[in-house]
Amino acid sequence: MNIDIVQIPLPHSAEAPVDPLYEAYAHVSRAEDIHFYGNDDLVSDAREYFIEDANQKYQRTARWVAFPAGERAPERAVAIAAIDYPVADNTHLAYTWIVTHPEWRSQGIATALLPTIEESLRHSGRTTIQVWSNHSPYRGEDGLEAKSGVGRVNPAEPSARWLTALGYELEQTERHSVLDIPADDDPWWRELRARREKDAATAGALYELVQWQGATPPESREDYARLRERMSVDAPDADLDFEEEKWDEERIADRDARTAEMGRGAIMTAVRHVPSGILVAYSELYWPLERPAGVWQFDTFVHGEHRGHRLGALVKAANLQLLREVNPLSQRIHTWNAGENEHMLAINVELGFAPRSVEGGWQKRVAPPAL
Ligand SMILES: CC(C)(COP(=O)(O)OP(=O)(O)OC[C@H]1O[C@@H](n2cnc3c(N)ncnc32)[C@H](O)[C@@H]1OP(=O)(O)O)[C@@H](O)C(=O)NCCC(=O)NCCS
Repeated sequence: MNIDIVQIPLPHSAEAPVDPLYEAYAHVSRAEDIHFYGNDDLVSDAREYFIEDANQKYQRTARWVAFPAGERAPERAVAIAAIDYPVADNTHLAYTWIVTHPEWRSQGIATALLPTIEESLRHSGRTTIQVWSNHSPYRGEDGLEAKSGVGRVNPAEPSARWLTALGYELEQTERHSVLDIPADDDPWWRELRARREKDAATAGALYELVQWQGATPPESREDYARLRERMSVDAPDADLDFEEEKWDEERIADRDARTAEMGRGAIMTAVRHVPSGILVAYSELYWPLERPAGVWQFDTFVHGEHRGHRLGALVKAANLQLLREVNPLSQRIHTWNAGENEHMLAINVELGFAPRSVEGGWQKRVAPPAL
């Protein structure tokens, strides 16, 4: 079929009107989520993508939408593509993403989008391209093993076939797990409380919990920035070519402001090391305020010098209790862990998280462009 590929103009400011191309982008992205996950827990709407793009200080983003030739109605969009170019760190990297609307697949649309994406990548001069893609769990003997040695995907799946044909290698897999939050009167909550008390006793008086909702308090931004930097390289990343992220107070404040503008709720449980007064562990949960049922677990991290004191389990349990108070409509929590991250997986399994899908971390290295 003939398609038109339209690049979405970047917003001049977060106050500008939302370009209808963002509606088209969100339409395809949502269709893929419903198709793959069966719910809209992880969906972003047009305004959320728009806000994400309104500040290009830490990341430069390019997005495209494909329509049948001559059409522009958002609900007629047939495919989308995006490239994120980190700016503050990892300037060798580009993340790409192409999705064909589930009703329009296997008709050559992704293939037709490819030259546009490749031209942008060539101009960028980035030498490592990474793609994170969703896969169904697969146990077949012909499974494509991640190079990390943990996890596999079905090589016949369209996404795996497409990426392999383009020269990407499956470096790592992450396990996506979901916790169906038990009802308030379920004994699970009693067990969680007991576990939290036991873990707090193991951690002892050297550590205390600090919790907040929404934006990071100014006095905690510096500590949180340091922890995020460590998290970015301490979590197992196999051979994915990833450097330490650069975080400072300003970037934390910017990220918090955008979270609020996107209409997302956020809670944080951190741990302060009492003798030094600094934060040494944290766990954070987010959700769209308009769709409070599906909650996203982002980082959980314990600084290397403070591991082995049950702080990881403690921050997670305390954050779950806080979630129940702040967002009583929450029903499910989604989390992602590297298959080789045994400690984190053990904590999640203990809490009742069950595996749902696999995220593949694919990578391709390209030669720098000739001068
Ligand atoms: C992967 C995806 C983008 C392909 O889109 P598409 O428009 O159907 O792709 P095309 O028709 O242009 O086909 C391109 C290639 O995709 C793969 N593919 C497409 N349909 C397939 C099918 N039914 N079974 C297996 N592979 C298939 C093949 O490798 C195909 O190349 P070939 O025709 O030379 O065999 C699409 O399946 C999709 O959106 N998946 C979900 C998002 C995703 O995983 N994106 C990939 C990571 S960026």
